[in-house]
Amino acid sequence: MTRSLLAFCIWLVPLAILAAPNGKQLYTRHCSVCHNDNGMGGIGLPLNGEKIEHFPRDYVFKTIRLGREGRVMPAFGKLSDAQIDAIVDYVFSWKKTSERAEYSDQKITGNPKAGAELFARKCAACHGKDGKSNGLGTGVTTSRERKFKVVPPALNNPGFLASASDYWIYDTIQNGRRGTIMPPQKKLKLTDQQVKDIVSHIRSFEQSYQKHEALEEDQPTLVFDSPYDFDTTVHNLKQSLKGLNFRYFPDRYMEMGLAPDKEINKKQLSLRFCNFNQLYKLINIDPRLGIVLPCRITVVEQPDGAVKLYLINMKMAARLFNNTQLTEIAEQMHDSVMELIDEATL
Ligand code: HEC
Ligand code: HEC
Repeated sequence: MTRSLLAFCIWLVPLAILAAPNGKQLYTRHCSVCHNDNGMGGIGLPLNGEKIEHFPRDYVFKTIRLGREGRVMPAFGKLSDAQIDAIVDYVFSWKKTSERAEYSDQKITGNPKAGAELFARKCAACHGKDGKSNGLGTGVTTSRERKFKVVPPALNNPGFLASASDYWIYDTIQNGRRGTIMPPQKKLKLTDQQVKDIVSHIRSFEQSYQKHEALEEDQPTLVFDSPYDFDTTVHNLKQSLKGLNFRYFPDRYMEMGLAPDKEINKKQLSLRFCNFNQLYKLINIDPRLGIVLPCRITVVEQPDGAVKLYLINMKMAARLFNNTQLTEIAEQMHDSVMELIDEATL
């Protein structure tokens, strides 16, 4: 090799290192909010500890790529394969051993019917009778008393089932999750065949995926016309709020704080209210997700005198959080606000 070629190669090496994605940085940017800097968990499950010794590479890769729809864990569709690989390398740097966890990718043939019966007895108390988890919320509980300290993950989840091979699920049941309440096979007094039956049952959840119905109104803000003038509309809304058991907060003009008091447009009013029952349920799912509350309807008189009502599309806002329980409550909230608007504008 000529000297100049050698110099060129030496120059190339650091360049190649620079060009490789930085797993730690990517992890900090994309994962830390939920799994914590060190993988201790938070909104997301813990990723450190003994369990990662059992994580096959493919499982972690696919979990990042596919996410867990309806369970807060997002799908990272825009990261390149190389970036995801770098994140997996970084997560695996927490391993205590250098052994690779590898499992056969063969299918397990058990008896799903027997498995269903065993699942109901041995697993459903934590993972729910249909596999959708019996815990409210996700991840690790830090802020309050809950039924579970680590919320059992959903096992009927498309992202989970597409990432986990039969033999990896088998291994997980055999070992349990040390340091959490998830018991190992021995403690559950299951034979190997029974574990196989359970795996077949878990696999059968694939047949029962709920398809997301398309959102009828895919708008972040919903707009309604009021047949009444501004003052009557506001009066009607307040009456209906009382009637429907909403608590409401002092009026706020849209321009408060933005313009001198005298110049505030008094024909743009935000009515803020909440239904404590729904609020309570929401916060119970996860106080960290406590969002967009109190609810708000903004009443605006247009220059031509027409009065319009604006409100956040709560169904859509909730869906951004990718959590099925949250979506359910947002839908209830949405329905009661629609009832409110119907009543006030009838
Ligand atoms: C918005 C929160 C959130 C973000 C961001 C997030 N996760 Fe998750 N992750 C979760 C939740 C919640 C679960 C558990 C799902 C359940 O309870 O069913 C999870 C589960 C996982 C699992 C499965 C753990 C197990 O025990 O099998 C892995 C692996 C994982 N996440 C890795 C990552 C990585 C790597 C990133 C960044 C690229 C990431 N997650 C980003 C919330 C998140
Ligand atoms: C006492 C509660 C409890 C019982 C009973 C229980 N689990 Fe779990 N399971 C958990 C918790 C909590 C986790 C998550 C632990 C963690 O990773 O931090 C978990 C994790 C899992 C996982 C890994 C899923 C993932 O996303 O990483 C599988 C698979 C699983 N359990 C299957 C089962 C099966 C099958 C049974 C019955 C034979 C069962 N579990 C019984 C609480 C339980």
